[in-house]
Amino acid sequence: MVKLIGSNKIKTAVFISGAGSNFKNLVQFSFLNKSPIKICLLVSNDKRAKGLNFADKYKIKKKIYDFNNMKKSESLILKQLKIDKISLICLAGFMKMLSPNFIKRFKGIILNIHPSLLPKYKGLNTHERVLKNKEKYSGCTVHYVSSRLDSGKIILQEKVKILKKDTSSSLKKRILKREHLLYRKAINKLFFSL
Ligand code: GAR
Repeated sequence: MVKLIGSNKIKTAVFISGAGSNFKNLVQFSFLNKSPIKICLLVSNDKRAKGLNFADKYKIKKKIYDFNNMKKSESLILKQLKIDKISLICLAGFMKMLSPNFIKRFKGIILNIHPSLLPKYKGLNTHERVLKNKEKYSGCTVHYVSSRLDSGKIILQEKVKILKKDTSSSLKKRILKREHLLYRKAINKLFFSL
């Protein structure tokens, strides 16, 4: 467990690729007095990611790395993380896989959120596959990042019941709401061992 020293908050970077609702949620969480994190940096691999707008709104430093050359992008990111003294990375809809080298070289903690009950349904098109297989439940998971896709030790997981009328878009929406709560809870668990 990582301990908070005094009232210093954990300097955090969030990585996104798209809409950024989890990023927005983490920023709002970080503004609470009781929150253990301070978000100092937003990283996106896509300059069109909608979530970048939240960085402007909340005046958070944002950096875009296109990952055309993964090695170069990762090495630039590592430099930036050092500059900003980041010790926690929260992946939040970041659709690039970080290399084992990146994971080894970053000395802090890396977390990810995934919209399924891992280890089931790793990867893309989760909701479509869950519905196609007529599962009764889906859910979301916060886990440590390892160098394998959507793997690594699970911190928290929440089940969501699938309704008969669910489409992939209704399921996605319902799970996303739960993701926002789960990410907060997982971070609290990690730093306050709640
Ligand atoms: C979220 O559902 C997140 O769990 C998922 O992408 C979505 C991003 O939404 N992540 C993965 O699938 C990672 N494998 P957001 O941009 O609104 O936060």
